[in-house]
Amino acid sequence: MTSRILSANASDSRLCASVLADAFSEDPLMATIWPDRGRRHAALSGYFDASLRHFHVAGGGVRYAVTDAGDIAAAAVWDPPGSKQSIARTLRALPSLLPILRGRTSAALGVRSTLDAHHPTRPHWYLANLGSSTAQRGHGFAAALMTDQLARCDRDGVDAYLVCTSPDNIAFYEQFDFVVTETFALASGSEMTSMWRSCAAR
Ligand SMILES: CC(C)(COP(=O)(O)OP(=O)(O)OC[C@H]1O[C@@H](n2cnc3c(N)ncnc32)[C@H](O)[C@@H]1OP(=O)(O)O)[C@@H](O)C(=O)NCCC(=O)NCCS
Repeated sequence: MTSRILSANASDSRLCASVLADAFSEDPLMATIWPDRGRRHAALSGYFDASLRHFHVAGGGVRYAVTDAGDIAAAAVWDPPGSKQSIARTLRALPSLLPILRGRTSAALGVRSTLDAHHPTRPHWYLANLGSSTAQRGHGFAAALMTDQLARCDRDGVDAYLVCTSPDNIAFYEQFDFVVTETFALASGSEMTSMWRSCAAR
């Protein structure tokens, strides 16, 4: 497999959202927000598009991998050290997000507040989302995105943090030297796993 890795700007958000919506269609965190499968599948693409545009793209850490044929295969959403979802930014996002969340707004806020309560304060790059299209799994696209960003972390001497939303993926991140630091549950009972990668040992 060969891939090109590109930095996303606002005009790429819909493309990245489509691959993330596909990747996260059965994700336990997303299922906590939308337990109903049909509603979840209908909402995810718009949800990721609005989230990317309002909260992530400006940080410069949204990257995506494309195949030789030019199709998007995977996307990674990294937030730089110190990034905060300010109240002003959240207010600007509401007109896009509320029609998508509708009756699930309080579930989404509950998930957000649980994640925030466990979010470390030490400086780090935060991997908010990583997903490969179901058609392109196992071809190294997610690994290429991880290697790309983690090289940047090592070069800049910055640690990295993520919340693994499914126990099935812990081993994936351990390959990249992330270690489990904590587990906690969402309101649905789904177990989340905090993982940290220190660059100090490199
Ligand atoms: C997890 C995910 C991103 C992996 O994407 P992918 O493009 O298939 O991964 P890659 O092809 O780059 O895999 C690289 C290596 O990791 C291994 N790997 C992939 N998924 C793995 C998993 N869940 N556990 C352990 N190893 C895994 C691959 O076998 C491969 O190993 P190799 O280098 O020895 O061949 C993808 O399965 C996905 O999008 N899942 C749904 C969304 C999700 O759960 N995201 C993570 C939220 S915590």
